[in-house]
Amino acid sequence: MEPRLAADELRRHIVRTKRLPTIPIVLSKILDLIEDVNSSVFDLEEVISHDQSIAAKVLGLANSAFYGFGRKIDTISQAIIVIGFNAVKSLAIGVSIFDKFYNTVQGTLLDLNGLWMHSVATAEGTRLISERLRRGNLEASFICGLLHDLGKVAFISILPNDYQEAVAESLRLNRRLYEVEQEAFGVAHDTLGSWVAERWHLPSDLVRCLHEHHNPSYAGQDAELVHTVGVADYLSKKLGLGSSIDPVLQPLASNSLRVIGLTVDQLAGIEAALLEQRGRIEQFFAILK
Ligand SMILES: [Fe+2]
Ligand SMILES: [Fe+2]
Repeated sequence: MEPRLAADELRRHIVRTKRLPTIPIVLSKILDLIEDVNSSVFDLEEVISHDQSIAAKVLGLANSAFYGFGRKIDTISQAIIVIGFNAVKSLAIGVSIFDKFYNTVQGTLLDLNGLWMHSVATAEGTRLISERLRRGNLEASFICGLLHDLGKVAFISILPNDYQEAVAESLRLNRRLYEVEQEAFGVAHDTLGSWVAERWHLPSDLVRCLHEHHNPSYAGQDAELVHTVGVADYLSKKLGLGSSIDPVLQPLASNSLRVIGLTVDQLAGIEAALLEQRGRIEQFFAILK
């Protein structure tokens, strides 16, 4: 089947399209802060507090069972002290992107709530694995999990009708959505998501996670994080936490477990822990909405 849109045509479309949301203002300011070595806690507080809807959600999340602090956090500066600078920054990045897309693509027949729940579950799975293996920045890995399927939301935003058709086709034929995307558009949601993230100048580890999360043999930079997201994606699909809008569950690649150094027993433990988090995942999603 000839792609309905060649990949470079789609890329041009993204560059000139008015339908793809522009980068949220608060997000571009946070990214500027990340690059500015002289930026301080106060700068982050000011940027977030300036956007009341984002600030309210960041506070809601900081107070949620996810962080489980006994006392109430009332201000962004308290949140920075209690849950940390990086945690607040990551939450603000996630919330601002979620806000932008969630409002833009309402009205589609696709199960968007399910897709976002799948994203939150994958985020939590990514965080659980990173925590278990004592790896890197937990908040950064959470955000990579949260946004891994950004390309699907971007497809819905750019080509709503064509994408709904592609999803319907994958359901009808019980074929991997990834393959149907490739055939229909010349690129799948992994590549599309990474284009959007690059265009928005999001952090490079996040861009790589978006681009490589379906590549079981990936061995480049940030490979551990990339495969962690891939394993968490698999677990949240397997457990039916939300909906990835893809009817086919690909078997887990043993290479992914090898790269992140996770044993089969540890994987089973994480699967059980993730299932136990269902309530928290639902609460997180309710606040994000
Ligand atoms: Fe995906
Ligand atoms: Fe996914």
